[in-house]
Amino acid sequence: MAANLHYLHFPDQILQTKFQSKQFKPVIRSKTNGHCVVSCLSSSNGRGPGGLDDGVKSVEKLLEEKRRVDLSAGIASGKFTVKKLSFPLQLRNNLLKLGIPKVVVESLLKWTGSLEDYPRIPEAKGSISALQNEAFFLALYELYLTYGGIFRLTFGPKSFLIVSDPSIAKHILKDNPKAFSKGILAEILDFVMGKGLIPADGEIWRRRRRAVVPALHQKFVSAMISLFGESTDRLCKKLDDAASDGEDVEMESLFSRLTLDIIGKAVFNYDFDSLKVDTGIVEAVYTVLREAEDRSVAPIPFWEIPIWKDISPKLKKVNAALKLINDTLDDLIAICKRMVDEEELNFHEEYMNEQDPSILHFLLASGDDVSSKQLRDDLMTMLIAGHETSAAVLTWTFYLLVKEPSVMSKLQNEVDSVLGDRFPTIEDMKKLKYTTRVINESLRLYPQPPVLIRRSMEDDLLGDYPIKRGEDIFISVWNLHRSPNHWEDPDKFNPERWPLDGPNPNETNQNFSYLPFGGGPRKCIGDMFATFETVGAVAMLVRRFDFQMALGAPPVEMTTGATIHTTKGLNMTVTRRRRPPIIPTLEPTVQVGSLLNIPEVKTVLGQNDEVSSASPS
Ligand code: HEM
Repeated sequence: MAANLHYLHFPDQILQTKFQSKQFKPVIRSKTNGHCVVSCLSSSNGRGPGGLDDGVKSVEKLLEEKRRVDLSAGIASGKFTVKKLSFPLQLRNNLLKLGIPKVVVESLLKWTGSLEDYPRIPEAKGSISALQNEAFFLALYELYLTYGGIFRLTFGPKSFLIVSDPSIAKHILKDNPKAFSKGILAEILDFVMGKGLIPADGEIWRRRRRAVVPALHQKFVSAMISLFGESTDRLCKKLDDAASDGEDVEMESLFSRLTLDIIGKAVFNYDFDSLKVDTGIVEAVYTVLREAEDRSVAPIPFWEIPIWKDISPKLKKVNAALKLINDTLDDLIAICKRMVDEEELNFHEEYMNEQDPSILHFLLASGDDVSSKQLRDDLMTMLIAGHETSAAVLTWTFYLLVKEPSVMSKLQNEVDSVLGDRFPTIEDMKKLKYTTRVINESLRLYPQPPVLIRRSMEDDLLGDYPIKRGEDIFISVWNLHRSPNHWEDPDKFNPERWPLDGPNPNETNQNFSYLPFGGGPRKCIGDMFATFETVGAVAMLVRRFDFQMALGAPPVEMTTGATIHTTKGLNMTVTRRRRPPIIPTLEPTVQVGSLLNIPEVKTVLGQNDEVSSASPS
């Protein structure tokens, strides 16, 4: 186990030996316009031809280490990432400040050939196999420490820009979001989400965001709190049985089932009841989810190969699963439509049907087209977006908690005094401050997803570097959240880093060094829903049980899908807590909007008239 803790806690050390010094060998290659250009030579072992004697090898090793130290020093001093503005760049900026349109300025500079003088983005070259044996975001972290806040990662003819600089992330997500699409992500997810809210771009996205965001209003989120309690209670019963039988439990799959049950009810009022039964529909949802994850890490789009796509048993299974889900969705939409037709509709901003408070009910009542593929795409998108992410947050939160008993005991004290032995209420959310900080900190260490994907739709400037249209970009949230430049003791699980009386940390008050729910107009629409869901679940579970890693459990390592998974599950021993919970006194009801300093859930027009779920606090 100890070895794994190192693996998870000190990815930099692991990668220095395992990844960086072997597959990617940095050298300072040339100077362009006074600026060093960094590249990486790929070699089988990074140490040159075989047959050299040990002495030569160790000299080479020393030289390589020195090169690396020099490089890191150069990066730390801003040599590669913070460039002095060249004359054309200064001219460009000044012309823009004078109000001359960007396209005119850029054409002028292109015409005079001045753009050639721009600094070039540091480049790491390597073989894709270097990234395949481990969670790829770990490799990106090590490369970030060497190449800085923006670099190009090149595999043969294909290249990606890796962004780990908060101001560049802010530029892409918030300041100039219209210049970036979802790119590869939209291509990968097309089979399951179509033009749903996550992959959609342009006018379709704008229209759907305006339609869907209002459904997650304050009253809806408040109504969901009791759903969170009921569903988590089912999980508690399961854990209770395991505790009685002395059986270990695999928490990752249980969390996945818990959040599937919750999101099914919240999005379309369907009880998967997956904690109890394994129906065909639950299996179908998992088949589709795994396929989406496989596609997101596949080196080639095998699902597009003409004959393969017709004969592959795996793809046939995926198609059958999709059909079952779509048929079920059609039935649910029809049932819901009948309910809407039968009710005396008084649709308003905070409309909610008490029997069926689901997002689907809101959308149909608001006049959404029942027969549209768009409605199905959005429902599927929310099912997936709200399921895997929350499950991963719970998984890694418990992993972190069992390793930090002092945090666990502080957390249990808070929960005992706030909740006692009852379901959380909306009022409790304001009081569960430390629990919320635990989730904030877990989301910092294990952001879900660990990278955000974009593609440039026009030429642009990232920092001082010009980029062309069509660049695939990975914003590494993992790197931002663990950067030694922005965080003290970045790998430490330390909920205390967020003061209890301070604001709820978000991308705005942390200047894009922390973006657990993204930022700008495409920020997550379920941020408050997910925060309450995970805070409520953690509170109920730690109030009733003590958790430990199971004896002989496989090492907890990470693997990448859409979110961060464990490689072999999170096996724990669960025991009932002996300490009787304290029953607290309830205080008067408070408004959702004032809770946790989280912004009110209301429909606001964000910048550029985009609808965002919440205005920044
Ligand atoms: C802890 C749980 C969650 C986390 C960590 C999370 C994280 C994120 C992030 C980082 C984004 C931005 C993606 C990007 O910019 O490329 C996002 C977008 C989104 N999330 Fe969440 N999410 C969570 C829960 C939910 C829930 C519960 C729902 C649905 C009720 C949801 C629905 C969405 C949707 C629809 C988008 C796309 C918004 C758009 O592009 O306009 N998420 N989420």
